[in-house]
Amino acid sequence: MKICVTGGAGFIGGNFVYYMLDQHPDYDIVCLDALTYAGNLETLEGAMKNPKFKFVKGDIADRDFIYELFEREKFDIIVNFAAESHVDRSIEEPEVFLKTNIMGTQVLMDACRKFGITRFHQVSTDEVYGDLPLDRPDLFFTEETPIHTSSPYSSSKAGADLLVLAYYRTYGLPVTISRCSNNYGPYHFPEKLIPLMISRALANESLPVYGKGENVRDWLHVYDHCSAIDLVIHKGRVGEVYNIGGHNERTNIEVVKTILHALDKPESLISYVTDRKGHDLRYAIDPTKIETELGWKPVYNFDTGIQQTIKWYLDNKSWWENIINGDYQNYYKKMYEGR
Ligand code: NAD
Ligand code: DAU
Repeated sequence: MKICVTGGAGFIGGNFVYYMLDQHPDYDIVCLDALTYAGNLETLEGAMKNPKFKFVKGDIADRDFIYELFEREKFDIIVNFAAESHVDRSIEEPEVFLKTNIMGTQVLMDACRKFGITRFHQVSTDEVYGDLPLDRPDLFFTEETPIHTSSPYSSSKAGADLLVLAYYRTYGLPVTISRCSNNYGPYHFPEKLIPLMISRALANESLPVYGKGENVRDWLHVYDHCSAIDLVIHKGRVGEVYNIGGHNERTNIEVVKTILHALDKPESLISYVTDRKGHDLRYAIDPTKIETELGWKPVYNFDTGIQQTIKWYLDNKSWWENIINGDYQNYYKKMYEGR
């Protein structure tokens, strides 16, 4: 079995590479990644030592390159993580989100049709469902919840999902889609809430909380996301969507305070800043379908998972310090100065 993991130099794709090498030592894993600002070969250092792993640099939207690669490698399964993934960046510069997330997905699926595969799996997000009200804790996203996006990022992911389902119905391409809630864990790029707050708190810098910090996210450890995708690509029914989440809803301010307490830092570091435009209020996944149909169960709960994640950032400072000492400084100034 040969699996192409696109976006494997990023946060979730990188964890998925390690998960698959560990769980399926007989599989060949090829990581295809363009190494954008979010891609990091240091994340894959451990995998590079494994003879069953190979890294290929390239853009999923580059049709000629992708066709040559598919013809040469003869993949069985494609798991498409490659994407522009940060909502705030999509609000500033939407174009690359459409190019990578929509056009890139189309190019990959055209290559799958041309050269043949047994499964194309699209890694999607709960953000395609829009948001839920804060005062209705009884409501959850199911696979039947209508697509109702808020940001250029989520719209581009929804566009890709619709194309994936169209390629199933029109061309019979064997596809599956998973829509997961917010992930946390090792190798999370420090533009995202949890690693941003850990790295800034450690430097005694202010922690920028959008609005009042009341928005709710449904956190899932990246390991549990990987185990769910592994099940979907092997046992999921083609043409189906599977929601992934572990019922770990927290307000942003709860998450930030948890991090501060764990690091023994004062709450006075919190700085309430101008809210994100179009900020989704609450995400919450109903994972009944994947639990009952495929027998998936998460192993992490947020309270222990977040402590382990904080420890990982303490133990792996050089990984994130290399990032925040580079171009990231300009990004942070542009996004947060005067906010
Ligand atoms: P990330 O930004 O950490 O990593 C994205 C990776 O894709 C990077 O390595 C980058 O170099 C690569 N990439 C970007 N454009 C590319 C292109 N044109 N060609 C090839 N490679 C390219 O993202 P992540 O947080 O790991 O998210 C991975 C996937 O999971 C995305 O599709 C995202 O929409 C989805 N997702 C993320 C979360 C989350 O909480 N992070 C939750 C649900 C779904
Ligand atoms: O739900 C899945 C999605 O989760 C994925 O599809 C996205 O790729 C991923 O980035 C994530 O999106 P969010 O926008 O929820 O994640 P982010 O870490 O950017 O923000 C989490 C919450 O924290 C959100 O309500 C905004 C808030 N926030 C974020 C940042 C970066 C702050 O209050 N301050 C910040 O500086």
